[in-house]
Amino acid sequence: MLDELNRLRNESLEQLSHIWDEAALEEWRVKFLGRNGLLAAEMSKLGTLSKEEKPAAGKLANEVKASLESAYQAKIGAIKQRNLSESLESEPLDVTLPGRPVKRGRLHPATENLREIYRIWGDMGFQVFRSREVESDEMNFQMINIPPHHPARDNWSTFYIADTDQRVLLRTHTSPGQIRAMRELGQNGTQPLRVILPGMCYRYEQASSRYEIQFNQVEGLAVGRNITFADLKGTLTEFAHRMYGNRPVRFYGDHFPFTEPSAQMDVQCIICDGVGCPMCKYTGYLEILGSGMVHPHVLRNGGYDPNEWSGFAFGLGAERIAILKHGIEDIRYFWGNDLRFLEQF
Ligand code: DAH
Repeated sequence: MLDELNRLRNESLEQLSHIWDEAALEEWRVKFLGRNGLLAAEMSKLGTLSKEEKPAAGKLANEVKASLESAYQAKIGAIKQRNLSESLESEPLDVTLPGRPVKRGRLHPATENLREIYRIWGDMGFQVFRSREVESDEMNFQMINIPPHHPARDNWSTFYIADTDQRVLLRTHTSPGQIRAMRELGQNGTQPLRVILPGMCYRYEQASSRYEIQFNQVEGLAVGRNITFADLKGTLTEFAHRMYGNRPVRFYGDHFPFTEPSAQMDVQCIICDGVGCPMCKYTGYLEILGSGMVHPHVLRNGGYDPNEWSGFAFGLGAERIAILKHGIEDIRYFWGNDLRFLEQF
């Protein structure tokens, strides 16, 4: 039996040395090391041996088994290694190839534009105050000097969303935030304030290239003890210069119920530099915002004594600012979710 075992060892290792693929290796394992393999068959004979023969035969059988098993494991590693180096040679990897581009997300142009506006006003000392999108009729109109049935209401086509004893609506402009900011930050009309109030506004309009039913406005409000119309002009001119570069601006008399006097500010057309073009309808100027000195009724509703305090306010259409800056033809692109538009920013 000792001879048998030695022969088995030599024969199996000899065969193993020629094996270089995984299927053949598995066949080899089943043939020699398997449960019904040749080694197992040999070992089953141990029981038939005499007491004297058994220890030596048992010992050798275990040695043979161990050496076949370790040769088998070594072969697995050797085959893997050989497969790897073969594939490295036959399909070389070019580590200098550029990677595949990853599709990156980006900020919506309206968001980028708003952030630019916040940055400019922030640099000029105005903090952002967030007011609500769902408002009462009282805040959206009455508190800023537009009583019920006042004809000025025609300027704000309104989405009413509930008709309880307090009419509830989607704010048509950010101006009601003036009252909330004065009441929340003014400490009963004792503190000056400088805020901008950005946010979505809604109007019941026929959408067209120039009008959308929703748009962002940025309202501004400064209240102090000696604020004059000169402060309004200087501050708004500075904003226009920071936003559009140093081009001329002009102020026009206008009317809003919540300011007195009121003014519209225009900036020289950024397309034609004042020469005249379709964008500015050949006027050389683009209208960018409405503004004025805060009406005494509005100051009082915000908790300030209009005999001691004054202020200026303004409201600008944020998407309009971006439209003028980038020459965008249709305001509906902003909420149209067309990637061909969005990816240009
Ligand atoms: N609320 C006005 C609108 O929606 C814009 C506006 C004009 C706001 C003059 C102001 C202002 O604060 O002073 O058309």
